[in-house]
Amino acid sequence: MASRKGPSLTSAALPFRPVPGPRGLPLLGNLRAFGRDPLAFFVRLREDFGDWVTWSLGPKRCMLVSHPELIAEVISGVEQCYDVRPISWSFKQIAGDSVLMSRGEDWRRKRGLVQPVVRPRQVRAYAANMVECSTALTDRWQDGERVDVHREMTELTQRIILRTLFGNDLGANVRALGDAMTVAQREISVEARGIGLHLPSWARTPGRRRLLRAGAILDAEIHRLISARRADAHSAHTGEDLLDRLLAARDDQGRHLTAKEVRDEAMTLWIAGHETTSIALTWVWYLLSTSPSSRAELIEELSRVLGGRLPTADDYDRLTWTQCVVKEALRLYPPAWALIATARPGATLGGRAIRAGTLVWCSQWSTHRDPRWFPAPTVFRPQRWAADAPDVVPDHTWFPFGGGRRTCLGARFALVEAVLVVATLTQRFVLDCAPGAPALMTGLLMQPAEPVHATVRGVDGSR
Ligand code: HEM
Repeated sequence: MASRKGPSLTSAALPFRPVPGPRGLPLLGNLRAFGRDPLAFFVRLREDFGDWVTWSLGPKRCMLVSHPELIAEVISGVEQCYDVRPISWSFKQIAGDSVLMSRGEDWRRKRGLVQPVVRPRQVRAYAANMVECSTALTDRWQDGERVDVHREMTELTQRIILRTLFGNDLGANVRALGDAMTVAQREISVEARGIGLHLPSWARTPGRRRLLRAGAILDAEIHRLISARRADAHSAHTGEDLLDRLLAARDDQGRHLTAKEVRDEAMTLWIAGHETTSIALTWVWYLLSTSPSSRAELIEELSRVLGGRLPTADDYDRLTWTQCVVKEALRLYPPAWALIATARPGATLGGRAIRAGTLVWCSQWSTHRDPRWFPAPTVFRPQRWAADAPDVVPDHTWFPFGGGRRTCLGARFALVEAVLVVATLTQRFVLDCAPGAPALMTGLLMQPAEPVHATVRGVDGSR
């Protein structure tokens, strides 16, 4: 479906026509309903009021848009009519002024520098590491063992991104750094869920102090690595890891990234590049254990395409059912559950003027579960993504990676990683998750609120 029209800044002649929405309390607006359960709140807004709805978070005027044409308009208007996502203080301590955090010309330069290091050709080079790390996990698992799936997937995706970024240079520091990143990530999530978001930047809560201590550990190690690589350009490095590529990158005026810029980008790829994929993989295992037929089809595909050997980057395109499983898990449980853009002066949407400062939300959670685009929306049905599926999924109804110019830089990396991890692990083991859908927790990301327990079962007599 093509988008209705591109963004426009010429709203002077357009009226601010009211858009319906739920009643809110004085001062609080809809804060309580949103805070209690934002996912259910968004679905209710769409069902009760339609494709665009006005509501408020305290004094902040908000809109939820749910039609793909409106979503396309917001996404394509980012940087012109809309400012990209608001950023929390704690996230900035880790991501600094990276591509994820910057705007305008600064963002364009950084995107141009970082995009090449995760383009499909480079991702192919990272694939062997993804399979190696997954194989190490299957070497550790035992038939009948009980595991916490989310924790296992976080350790796995953390190891994959760390080795992709830094090769084997972290050595024995891997665990300490992983722990520091986990602390930082937890504090960022806590802040995103609570009043921390509204604290002034000078405030030092115990959580912020923990975050700063973790950030200092990460900073020291990354700066050590950057200095070592710069000092020893002819070292044993093969130039194959992401850090080498960031250090070698030049903008269109031939300038390299500074050490601080390399630190910010590396940290951002690390933080953005593992928890998202770990959550997605956790849902893959949960959903597969609710659908024996999907799992059987997966095992059949792996045996037909791979015939018992380990997957490689070349197999990605051939593992079509595995891709469908991953896409369907990202539909039902999108780790990024909402995109937020702030309307600039003169912004328009669907031919109406939008007041400057309005927070415009597009929710993956509610759009991915809209029965207009996804029949039987709550059912796990990987076949809806098959090339010969009868229903075409319209553009901008599935957007786990966002879209437009600010679309996720690591989308290809994440999809290849998820498919290769699922393929490698399922050749030896399946995971039987405890019955019952895990409760959800929403912060910066949407994730299981509690551990997701599963029993590991060997396929064809694997240990
Ligand atoms: C399933 C896994 C992932 C999901 C669901 C996801 C989702 C997203 C979303 C929703 C955005 C914002 C897009 C927008 O505003 O339109 C984003 C941005 C970004 N993601 Fe991902 N992501 C994933 C994996 C990754 C990986 C593996 C990496 C790096 C290796 C990565 C790096 C980034 C970066 C750098 C940005 C900022 C792009 C910019 O602002 O120009 N992501 N991601």
